[in-house]
Amino acid sequence: MDSFDVSSIGMALNDVTDAQNARKAEAASTAREKGWVEPEGYDYAKYNTLPQLPKPGENTEPEQQQEHQGLPEWAANAAKYEWKDEYGDVGPPNPQLEDMLFRSDFINRTGLKIGNLQNIEVIAESRERPQPVKSFDDAGLHPIICDNIKLCCYDVPTPIQAYAIPAVLTGHDLIAIAQTGSGKTAAFLIPVLSQLMGKAKKLAAPRPNLADGFNPSTDSVVAEPLVLIVAPTRELSTQIFDEARRLCYRSMLRPCVVYGGAPVRDQRDELRKGCDILIGTPGRLLDFMDKPHILSLRRVKYTIIDEADELLLADWESDFNRIMSGGDINEDADHRYLMFSATFNKECRQLARKFLADDHVRVRIGRPGSTHINVDQNIVYAEEHLKKQCLYDLLLAMPPSRTLIFVNSKSQADFLDDYLYNMGLPSTSIHSDRTQREREDALRSFRSAKCPILVATGVSARGLDIKNVMHVVNFDLPRQSHGGITEYVHRIGRTARIGNEGLATSFYNHDRDSDLAPYLVRLLLETKQKIPDFLESYKPADGETLFEDDTDEEREGNGESANEDIGNAWGGIPTGDTSDAPAPAANYDF
Ligand SMILES: Nc1ncnc2c1ncn2[C@@H]1O[C@H](COP(=O)(O)OP(=O)(O)OP(=O)(O)O)[C@@H](O)[C@H]1O
Ligand SMILES: [Mg+2]
Repeated sequence: MDSFDVSSIGMALNDVTDAQNARKAEAASTAREKGWVEPEGYDYAKYNTLPQLPKPGENTEPEQQQEHQGLPEWAANAAKYEWKDEYGDVGPPNPQLEDMLFRSDFINRTGLKIGNLQNIEVIAESRERPQPVKSFDDAGLHPIICDNIKLCCYDVPTPIQAYAIPAVLTGHDLIAIAQTGSGKTAAFLIPVLSQLMGKAKKLAAPRPNLADGFNPSTDSVVAEPLVLIVAPTRELSTQIFDEARRLCYRSMLRPCVVYGGAPVRDQRDELRKGCDILIGTPGRLLDFMDKPHILSLRRVKYTIIDEADELLLADWESDFNRIMSGGDINEDADHRYLMFSATFNKECRQLARKFLADDHVRVRIGRPGSTHINVDQNIVYAEEHLKKQCLYDLLLAMPPSRTLIFVNSKSQADFLDDYLYNMGLPSTSIHSDRTQREREDALRSFRSAKCPILVATGVSARGLDIKNVMHVVNFDLPRQSHGGITEYVHRIGRTARIGNEGLATSFYNHDRDSDLAPYLVRLLLETKQKIPDFLESYKPADGETLFEDDTDEEREGNGESANEDIGNAWGGIPTGDTSDAPAPAANYDF
């Protein structure tokens, strides 16, 4: 047989590929016409084949630390203020670092609707009444933290800050619940750091003088943090680390962050230079806790759990218990525990109390689990097979803006990202099957608007604070059996932060989402959103309360009598005192 002429193979697909390419070119030109920037492919060669980064040198300038041979640093290696022994009580300014920490274009700034954040019902309960602070200057904070708050451009405390600051300064454990984007991170960092700043020299573990350079073989110390902050995701941990780097500026307190997926070696080397504030995800934290020559929790005075209701879930139980016990070696009898979230259902609230002192303070701003009125919520009916087209049309119908699209699975995230990318739209994706390099890069591209469309799974639902996310799309609504309405609240809370406004669009169809519908409708009614016709039938009957969960029911369930200080713990507005209750639950005006 004559040999087959392979040159003809190259032609065989042309009829298909030519048509595909033409369609792509057309889609790309439509996307450009609508103002979307050109999509940029992910450079796998750049990120995955270069040798490991050198460790950040002590004398390396911040810019050099941030970019090495065009390769961005790991978030954990970001520059922080390095204290030197010869400094007195306050370190000198470092203008370059100051610019980087406080004046980046990508930091969220207060929006015009900040007033909507303040006018929310506040319930605070405790044996002693915490008096809310009205300004940062009058809150009795350490002068360095006051300076740093000014550098952050925080003019007035948000309600949760107004209550959390005095509660922590007066030495109480705390459960704090406040809506997404209302400044909970600073609400725990500000009072805790302020309390430690004056005493750091006395309390902190010995550490090398970084002014003399750092030689790992002779200068390494065991990290003995004073504060342990735990968050459920890597990106959230690094974000808290960024806020800690700002608020620790010019102080002796040295923050570090540990999280999975990034090199253990770099994180270990940072710990070895000394660490006062340790932020981390549970897995990596436990790994380091198993290495007492690297990390000891014996000095920890504050354990803070961000997104506490998530970490109290059964999936995390054994990890959580180990972390809360300080690795069994914590020596501080005066150890304080603080828990924060925007959502805290009844079961979690009961669990949380097991870990807290009897005189803990509970503060909630608005109903736990409510959404913010600054988010405009739209529900669109879309049959499953039409969602993709629906999304495309939606994106092209809107002015280009930072858009976060949630789906329910990693494969769906990849699929949708590919689809949008092929349609000429500047998208990228983040989920737990991507490498940490890819995850950090995706988030950086989204923040910088290089890729203003980010397709994400629930891993990014909580806590992330990205400037100008104008639109959150629930391509898939969360399943009622998996995250449900709680996850919905966190997802849409990625927009409309700190007084800004934003839009949330969710694709709904009865086949898939009817389980969620009753909860969704109640949430929409609560913030006076439009209820679409197809959800009318899920409206509660006349006279029915919107949210049963938040009544006295909890007291019946937990076997506590009504006259314990728990009293009206999570009920509505407290109605009165019982004769022998230590103090009435109070409804403070802010
Ligand atoms: N007092 C303040 N004034 C102005 N901006 C503030 C203030 N406090 C915090 N911020 C800013 O508000 C934004 C949102 O804060 P943060 O991420 O702490 O919200 P959160 O309540 O933790 O939200 P989530 O529930 O989504 O985690 C951040 O960019 C933060 O820098
Ligand atoms: Mg938060």
